[in-house]
Amino acid sequence: MPAGLVAFVVLAVLAAAILPAAAASPPASRARRAMVVGPEPIAVARALEVLRSGGNAVDAAVTMALVLAVTFPQAGNLGGGGYMLIWKADGKATVIDYRETAPAAATRDMFLDASGRVVPGASLTTYKSSGVPGTIAGLAMALERHGTITWARAVEPAIPLARDGFELPRGLETVLEKQRGSLAAWPASRKIFFAGEMPLQEGSRLVQKDLASTLRLLAREGPGAFYGGRLAHLFAADMKAHDGLITVQDLASYRAVERAPLAGTYRGFQLLTVPPSSAGGVAILESLNMLAPFDLAAMGHNSSAYVHLVCEATRRAFADRSRWLGDPGFVEVPLGGLLSPGYAQARMRTYDPERASPPESVVPGDPLAGESTSTTHFAVLDEAGNVVANTYTLNEWFGNGAVVEGLGILLNNEMDDFAAAPGQANLFGLTGSQANSIAPGKRMLSSMAPTILLERTPEGRMAPKLVIGARGGSAIITSLLQITLDVVDLGMELQEAVNAPRFHHQWLPDRLFVEKGGFSTDVTDALRRRGHDVAERGPKDEVFAILVERHTGWIRGAADARGYGVADGY
Ligand code: DON
Repeated sequence: MPAGLVAFVVLAVLAAAILPAAAASPPASRARRAMVVGPEPIAVARALEVLRSGGNAVDAAVTMALVLAVTFPQAGNLGGGGYMLIWKADGKATVIDYRETAPAAATRDMFLDASGRVVPGASLTTYKSSGVPGTIAGLAMALERHGTITWARAVEPAIPLARDGFELPRGLETVLEKQRGSLAAWPASRKIFFAGEMPLQEGSRLVQKDLASTLRLLAREGPGAFYGGRLAHLFAADMKAHDGLITVQDLASYRAVERAPLAGTYRGFQLLTVPPSSAGGVAILESLNMLAPFDLAAMGHNSSAYVHLVCEATRRAFADRSRWLGDPGFVEVPLGGLLSPGYAQARMRTYDPERASPPESVVPGDPLAGESTSTTHFAVLDEAGNVVANTYTLNEWFGNGAVVEGLGILLNNEMDDFAAAPGQANLFGLTGSQANSIAPGKRMLSSMAPTILLERTPEGRMAPKLVIGARGGSAIITSLLQITLDVVDLGMELQEAVNAPRFHHQWLPDRLFVEKGGFSTDVTDALRRRGHDVAERGPKDEVFAILVERHTGWIRGAADARGYGVADGY
């Protein structure tokens, strides 16, 4: 090979390594009337079928959530919880909070040993790590209040997929291998996800017979079968057999809650997002308020000045999250203060464009003294213009790895999202205070944040512009913040924005994470000179987005290149 060509090839390979997904992003999928985006193709196809046969966005979303419980078992679920943000073409918006709750027998110190130290793994790997599942109640509530099809009809497409199985995709093989240990610990899980000693491989059939029976019963008897009927008794018996806490009474007392979305504005767009019990929406709105006075476009996407500014904002927002946020049914969350622009500006008074603020100066703020005057994700946009953005989870991939014997339902390990002890870091390195301590019936704090940006149309009504959501624990907040900036401030193409390398700073640990291979040494060196402790890490999050482009009439959908999701429409 001639020297010139060698140099060219070397450069091309280097460029591909430094600028991974963004440079090579194909354009987002586009459609004229409806769009669905989700983490795997079968569920997206089923949701589109519901839309084509006249169902609305909520019908499609609920159907999709139930299909994902089968086809995306690592996060799609019946045994977890989440949040559904619904925006209707008549302008009304609502949030269904179906986050798990702590069972009645849970106690503040349940994950501590006699000397007050956290027992390693107890909040992640045991039956006690599970909160009372909210998914079935949440989906049923969404359908009953905002859908048009029957519950049985929504459950139906999931049944044959569980009974007859489906071909295991490579992406699922990868996570099965990764979580091999947590699944292998439970015979009921091994029976489903293993062939002999090995997790199932790409191309084999994943059949979930017990889950098919559970779904059939749910279709026939309704969601009550899980919250007091036959399924509840089987669930509670399995809990008891494994030293878990959830009882039939816990299931019977579980309630999904419908809440008003949090609303804010950013550069002329109206933002609707999820209120507590998630901290996600609060942290995104608070960060945007802190960033509003700055010209981010002039700094340049992912330049050191830009990364520094955005992470100085998220450091402050996460400090507040840790101090102030918890289940609003149990603690007073000072939303008015936290979300007021004056408070955000006060928080940024210590911001220095040249230096990372010293850790001792980035402490939680005092929103009580502020101007308290205001207050596996998927998405569907239907032909009438209704939108659903839904994020739900088992916490870790496959939750604690345990399948409930006889039910085929994977158990969440969401109890780890509580602060096991003040200042104790959880799986995502997040710390919390009394506001997020364990108490019976309380919802553990979340970072999930399905979000919709609305714009005023030339006719003067509000209409969806951008619909976003992500997985990734605490990185949900920083990734959705970055997508908002990419689209609103930088005008990036949707797929390019979704695939672009991301960074993350969550206050504690006091470290700025940058995505491996996504940032040049010029940028990371410049950030280190400002005083940041910069560390590379692999991708932690995955974003799903829909963009309505009013001037062209296209609806664009983008699933993250980091996963194996798809966007499709018609
Ligand atoms: O509610 C939360 O914030 C976490 N349990 C979400 C977990 C998550 O996103 C895992 N995804 N990688």
